[in-house]
Amino acid sequence: MGSVGILGYGYYLPELIMTNHELAIRFGKTENWIEERTGIKERRIAKYNTATSDLAIKAALAAIEKANLLPEDIDLIIVATTTPDMIFPSTACLVQNGIGACNAAAFDISAACTGFIYGLDTAVSYVSSGQYNNVLLVGADTYSKITNHNDINTSILFGDGAGAVVVGKVPEGFGVLGSIMGADGSGADLLKVPAGGSRQPLTHGLLDNRLNTIVMNGREVFQFAIRIFENMINQIIDKTRLTMEDISLIIPHQANKRILAAVSEKLKIPPEKMYCNIEYYGNMSSASIPVALSEACNNDKIKKGDILLFVGFGAGLTWGTSLIKWYDR
Ligand SMILES: CC(C)(COP(=O)(O)OP(=O)(O)OC[C@H]1O[C@@H](n2cnc3c(N)ncnc32)[C@H](O)[C@@H]1OP(=O)(O)O)[C@@H](O)C(=O)NCCC(=O)NCCS
Repeated sequence: MGSVGILGYGYYLPELIMTNHELAIRFGKTENWIEERTGIKERRIAKYNTATSDLAIKAALAAIEKANLLPEDIDLIIVATTTPDMIFPSTACLVQNGIGACNAAAFDISAACTGFIYGLDTAVSYVSSGQYNNVLLVGADTYSKITNHNDINTSILFGDGAGAVVVGKVPEGFGVLGSIMGADGSGADLLKVPAGGSRQPLTHGLLDNRLNTIVMNGREVFQFAIRIFENMINQIIDKTRLTMEDISLIIPHQANKRILAAVSEKLKIPPEKMYCNIEYYGNMSSASIPVALSEACNNDKIKKGDILLFVGFGAGLTWGTSLIKWYDR
């Protein structure tokens, strides 16, 4: 079967920055009030005429170049997103055309903030089975497009961005060592966009009530995130028979700095082992983990042989984790 890992990585963020200053004025709060609750200082926002695929294409090209491949070498494209350009065709098809990956099949995965982990597990399975050789996985989201700009709880949290990896064969002993995925649909109402699908097709009334934007029970999601994050770390360590000391760096979904701090405290994880860039980008949903991974690599925080732990959680409810021994040529 051989080992399967990450051959290349890249990311792209929109240039426009939304600071706490602007949001504090909008909501009559202070900048500190936002930062204390979330750890976020600023986030990137896509322009009105920039869609998720525009960000995804730039991240994808960077990852393919880093992998020393050409777009025509890619045989499958998976885009993890819950802000597709449109209901259909899939954003993956738009990326396929945009990068000229003429030999690739393409589909989207909808698992919200866990999308990158679900996508990684899928990509690894395809390469392990021998069905595909080079799978491009993109996590891309533009939640600014589905946020109610009068809702303080969601407006302060989310930002836009895209991160990508190329998944393929790596030398024996490197690559993904284990993964876990889970879901609990009984929590679907905790974080959702109620209207615009087949349950409530858009009407003027629904639009007037902004039901085409995110509705979130922040308190419940907060508690779920801490619980599941801790469970996943314990489970994956058990499953792979490793210890916390073996793990070089945890790259978690960047939802709220307080969530990362609470888990670090409970599991006694030193701060330098929990990667955090939420300060500058906010929660970028499926893009959070691949952007953080790319940034950590670019800043020389990861070296060959390091054991990395990706942890994702979000709407669905969904969760997933992946343990990987880093390979670098
Ligand atoms: C929206 C948000 C910033 C509002 O923050 P807030 O006004 O400070 O907090 P909330 O009233 O929503 O409640 C946060 C709750 O988290 C829980 N909590 C906070 N710190 C905690 C910790 N260290 N351990 C366990 N639970 C904790 C508490 O139950 C707290 O409620 P309480 O103070 O009434 O007991 C916050 O709720 C949030 O970030 N939620 C998660 C949203 C999210 O990450 N969404 C995307 C998921 S992918």
